[in-house]
Amino acid sequence: MNKKLIAPSLLAADFANLQRDIEMVNTSEADWFHIDVMDGMFVPNISFGMPVIKAIAKHAKKTLDTHLMIADPDRYIKDFANLGVDNLTVHYEACTHLHRTLQAIKAEGMKAGVALNPHTSVRVLEEVIKDVDLVLIMSVNPGFGGQSFIENTYKKIKQLKEMILTHNATTLIEIDGGVNAENAKKLTDAGADVLVAGSFIFSSKNQLQTISDLKNKIA
Ligand code: DX5
Ligand code: ZN
Repeated sequence: MNKKLIAPSLLAADFANLQRDIEMVNTSEADWFHIDVMDGMFVPNISFGMPVIKAIAKHAKKTLDTHLMIADPDRYIKDFANLGVDNLTVHYEACTHLHRTLQAIKAEGMKAGVALNPHTSVRVLEEVIKDVDLVLIMSVNPGFGGQSFIENTYKKIKQLKEMILTHNATTLIEIDGGVNAENAKKLTDAGADVLVAGSFIFSSKNQLQTISDLKNKIA
């Protein structure tokens, strides 16, 4: 069985102490940095853009997993590659020509991910699943940290896992939103490979311990 991964979401970090929080993740048992880019169009919130990601990339020593909650993401694929991003995930709902977008991401040497809003069925990926390195199932509506987990997510994970196995694909399943110590194990048992956690990690007193506890739960 694959190793299960934890990706702390920097959206919940203290931006006035970003380097400190990045170093915390560097020394922790976490596997990836999750970076949420929001444009105020695709989602009702604006997070941060290129200069901040450039600063993150300078200090981060783990995989940069970038989640684009932006309209027409094709416009910025090259820019993210130049920043040194490892995984680039676009929203299904934001791409008119998803297959072309996936090829463009891979052509820049990045892993290609597709994110699905809570209302979007995993079935829409049936025809491209072999071309997708990771599927990010949103377990909250994108745009904000600290929301509560949507229970229908478990069903979607199981359906997606079945699709991946049927197609002999190697796609990872990532879950984003409302992840905590209560649901982590249930999510990986259902078939999730990567768990994103923002507020659960960064609002805890001992962040290193919280990450370690999450890892132990899903080990
Ligand atoms: C939400 C973002 C998430 C967010 C998760 O739109 O995609 O990555 O940071 O935050 P929590 O873990 O607090 O729900
Ligand atoms: Zn995210």
